[in-house]
Amino acid sequence: MSTLAIVGTQWGDEGKGKIVDILSEGADYIVRYQGGNNAGHTVVVNGVKYVLHLLPSGILHDGKKCVLGNGMVIDLEGLWNEVEFIKRVGKSPEGRLFVSERAHVIFPYHKALDAASEKLKGDGSIGTTLKGIGPAYRDKAGRVGIRIADLKDEESFKEKLRWNIREKELTLKHVYNYPVSFNFDEIYSHTMRIYEKVADFVCDTVSLLNRAIDAQERVLFEGAQATLLDIDVGTYPFVTSSNSSALGIPAGAGVSPKKVEKVYGIAKAYTTRVGGGPFPTELKDNTGELLRARGHEYGSTTGRPRRCGWLDLFAVKFSAQVNQLDGLVITKLDVLDAFDQIKVCVGYELNGQLIDRFPSTARELEQVKPVYETLPGWKQKTTNVKSFNELPEEAKNFIKFVEDYLGIPVPIISTGPQRDETVIRERIW
Ligand code: IMP
Repeated sequence: MSTLAIVGTQWGDEGKGKIVDILSEGADYIVRYQGGNNAGHTVVVNGVKYVLHLLPSGILHDGKKCVLGNGMVIDLEGLWNEVEFIKRVGKSPEGRLFVSERAHVIFPYHKALDAASEKLKGDGSIGTTLKGIGPAYRDKAGRVGIRIADLKDEESFKEKLRWNIREKELTLKHVYNYPVSFNFDEIYSHTMRIYEKVADFVCDTVSLLNRAIDAQERVLFEGAQATLLDIDVGTYPFVTSSNSSALGIPAGAGVSPKKVEKVYGIAKAYTTRVGGGPFPTELKDNTGELLRARGHEYGSTTGRPRRCGWLDLFAVKFSAQVNQLDGLVITKLDVLDAFDQIKVCVGYELNGQLIDRFPSTARELEQVKPVYETLPGWKQKTTNVKSFNELPEEAKNFIKFVEDYLGIPVPIISTGPQRDETVIRERIW
């Protein structure tokens, strides 16, 4: 196998960063293909916690090549800050960080529009990260976006920027009643100052990746956010603005779907969600509190407390279907160590009837009633367990239950944030 994708199967924050970090050892390239610095990947190496928003977690491995693909929307200042950060911790990005010249740039007016749109939505707000992601993708689809390649052509960039500033000022004032004025000269010179710092990393990543795959180099695609936040198959409109499932890989990396060989999903042993939107297994009680406290469920990008609930396998099964998962990695199993009983959602009832498909609308999903199986807890620490056989019987049964329900294997189980707090039953590559 030379290409492998890792995607979230829930609403994000499944612990992809740690798993991608481990799998990066076997990769030549680690590639992000969608999203921007709305993501927050936390990786703990030798007790030191690193939070990355844009750079793939693979950047922490010396010598690994990291790609920010054409499907991303990039905050250049955020990119530069992360480059500086990894240099400070002794890692060099030179010669191994590649940023697509086709990726779109996030400008201050995108962030203002994000805030204005959320404000106007009021109680129905999405709860975005306010990083300007949605407005930047809106410009991309509206064919008025500015791509990194545009910054190379001074006159054309100036013209596009002027037009965009005017359009956004008018929109903010007249549509959102949220007037903001943007200083063209300041934005232009600031963007160019940062662009010059990162220009050496900018290249045509589409041909780079196609050549690498054709040469049998090993490419790991790292999904940010997750399948249920995917703009097409997620819980629309409470989603992010990109294809954050594996469906986004071909378009966002510029490679044929025939080039993605295996796709593995990541699921937490329970479920969390940040921001608004339906969440059938959400627990607004002490059990939810305990999950939040044990799982340290606070957003790594925004610091917001995450909503918590039991594992929703019915939703994960939908993700397994759309991504055609080859297997599922379970993370944060140790968070369940404290529970006498563990509930797992295995179906939804809508208007008193069991349904056989994951609802397409947020309205339906709000109305479903989860159907639970209750499994016995293990009430033992699993953090230091190194092999599947050492896990308590009840924990093994929990994993087997997941495998049987989904019909796919669980090759890796994570029982803590550190790299070595991981049970590897079968090597993915
Ligand atoms: P946006 O991506 O900032 O537009 O936010 C859209 C939705 O996706 C909101 O509900 C966010 O909380 C959620 N979201 C975006 N990025 C992440 C992430 O990395 N983890 C979890 N949720 C996210």
